Amino acid sequence: MTTPTTRLADLEVSSLGFGCMALSHVYGGGLDDGAARATLDGAIDAGITFLDTANVYGEPRPGTDGPAGTNEEMIAPLLARRREEVQIATKFGITGLSLVRGEVGTNARPTNGEPSYVREQAEASLRRLGVDVIDLYYLHRPDPLTPIEDTVGAMADLVQEGKVRHLGLSEVTADELGRAHGVHPITAVQSEWSLWSRDVEARVVPACAELGVGFVPYSPLGRGFLTGTLTRESVAADFRSSTQRMGDDAWDANARALDLVTEVANEVGATNAQVALAWLLEKARQTGVSAVPIPGSRRVERMRENLGCLELTLTSAQMQRLDGVAALVEGGRNIVDDPAWISSGRE
Ligand SMILES: NC(=O)c1ccc[n+]([C@@H]2O[C@H](COP(=O)([O-])OP(=O)(O)OC[C@H]3O[C@@H](n4cnc5c(N)ncnc54)[C@H](OP(=O)(O)O)[C@@H]3O)[C@@H](O)[C@H]2O)c1
Repeated sequence: MTTPTTRLADLEVSSLGFGCMALSHVYGGGLDDGAARATLDGAIDAGITFLDTANVYGEPRPGTDGPAGTNEEMIAPLLARRREEVQIATKFGITGLSLVRGEVGTNARPTNGEPSYVREQAEASLRRLGVDVIDLYYLHRPDPLTPIEDTVGAMADLVQEGKVRHLGLSEVTADELGRAHGVHPITAVQSEWSLWSRDVEARVVPACAELGVGFVPYSPLGRGFLTGTLTRESVAADFRSSTQRMGDDAWDANARALDLVTEVANEVGATNAQVALAWLLEKARQTGVSAVPIPGSRRVERMRENLGCLELTLTSAQMQRLDGVAALVEGGRNIVDDPAWISSGRE
């Protein structure tokens, strides 16, 4: 079966993407590079060709917290074999892996969007990925010390030079998106959006719909929680157990919120993951935004399962029941102790 494709502005990608972050050790228990590539190969064979990585994903170099790009290096041998089948997206701008795990980190400056840094990081990603051009290059977080126009201006230079095909922005506000889009067309915004993280629906998603910018929902399965397969014990050893939503205080309340998803999943004969993704796609359709979620898994059979969302139709009554999940959820989605780290904290 050929997987359907979706246009994010002027970029055509598989209608479901693959978030590569958790192939590395971020949630504990990452895979070795060979096993991670085997999962990716299986996903591409199944039709998931839109791969999402970042310069800060993967094991850091010993003694450093900078963007080591080891997740990009893991993907490189696969790209050497299958470049033409894949749309590769990567990111720059977060200066340390610890921030991806919600830790404070040792870097004095958590984000960097200076024009010289943009170029340096793009060249490093191209080198590590072993490709001539990056299909979609994202600013991972706006840098409060650099006007977004300057950062995007430098990213636009990379497009002019043929090093990057399309531009994206992660966790921008509607206002930041509008300013950036005025400098160079933005192809996609990537921010957290799921059954339990809906703040972007207020301003960012409508702004994307209005400007014709695509949306790439990250952590669409709530970092695994919405699948109903996690237990307190299974997250105890990784940073999720210290987040507001998966910590001890909120676990029981959020497990009850999850019951709503499980009820609908049982009713339609699908899994929680498929229902969570189908809800998201239908929500995007109703809002008039073109959206491609990027769930991640270490297991190819789970990615095949996730593809089932593309064939699942939810009734408006089921959509309404699922809409009720967010109101029952305890704890905010921000994993960093700085409200400005996510777009709604700056709106
Ligand atoms: N721009 C940003 O700031 C940002 C932030 C976070 C993430 N992201 C991107 O978004 C991608 C996805 O986000 P995420 O990894 O945080 O969260 P997610 O996709 O919501 O959830 C991933 C977790 O769900 C589990 N899973 C996946 N499919 C499953 C299924 N069918 N049944 C049961 N469990 C399943 C996986 O565990 P197993 O491996 O055990 O299957 C994995 O640990 C990342 O890889 C990254 O590319 C971007």
